[in-house]
Amino acid sequence: MVDDVLAKSFTLTGADYDRYRPGFPAAAADMVMSPTMLTALDLGAGTGKFTELLVGRAQRVIAVEPSEPMLEILRSKLPEVEAHLGSAERIPVESEVADVVTVAQAFHWFDQEAACAEIARVLTPGGTLGLVWNRFDPSCGWDRAAHRIAHPSLADADVVTNAAADELPGFDFVRRERIQSTERIRRDAYLGRWSTVSTFLVADEVSRTEMFAAIEAVLDSDPETRDRDEYDLPIVTDVFIYRRA
Ligand SMILES: C[S@@+](CC[C@H](N)C(=O)[O-])C[C@H]1O[C@@H](n2cnc3c(N)ncnc32)[C@H](O)[C@@H]1O
Repeated sequence: MVDDVLAKSFTLTGADYDRYRPGFPAAAADMVMSPTMLTALDLGAGTGKFTELLVGRAQRVIAVEPSEPMLEILRSKLPEVEAHLGSAERIPVESEVADVVTVAQAFHWFDQEAACAEIARVLTPGGTLGLVWNRFDPSCGWDRAAHRIAHPSLADADVVTNAAADELPGFDFVRRERIQSTERIRRDAYLGRWSTVSTFLVADEVSRTEMFAAIEAVLDSDPETRDRDEYDLPIVTDVFIYRRA
């Protein structure tokens, strides 16, 4: 069940989201796209962190996003993209327009049944749905500890595999891919990234201060981060590929 308050928390952010959140490996877009795809639609596009990988890989790129502040940043970064205010449950484009629909870091916010029906409507017959998530690497103790403090549902449950259940109504599951990468990140950027996470955005000032203090305590004590300004942060990117049935 989607938490509506958390899902709408992104209306509170924009510039910070774009500044602090990680991008996606180009390989993730290569896995979803093929040279015959002319039109790509990025759903829940945010500030365009995944959309930008579609530019140059498709002739026509459409972005749909419900948060105006996020969309404003996308428009300024990617003027060649057709950007629409809208949601996964009501995609404001005509039927059978897209060869591929991509959803990066957002499918878990959707009403799955309504969204799948809408995605199937806007896809050409046999079109591709690509679901992408960056997530923490469980082998990284300090990042896992920070997740336990600030985003326990992500630290202890596999939100990705729960959201991308093998079976989506109206779609055939094709395959799952995993990409591992490492990001060099400064301590202030790592802390800034937490300030853009939904649980932080909806927390009151006191809880936010407590969460930051607890994460700083982790960074001050873990042997991989203490007395350092920059860290190696491993990231796992999961890509799920479906075909319209
Ligand atoms: C974590 S952000 C991901 C943004 C972007 N795809 C990225 O990877 O940077 C989640 C996005 O999903 C959007 N979102 C939330 N509920 C949605 C819905 N029902 N339909 C479409 N987008 C939604 C939010 O506004 C937000 O921009």
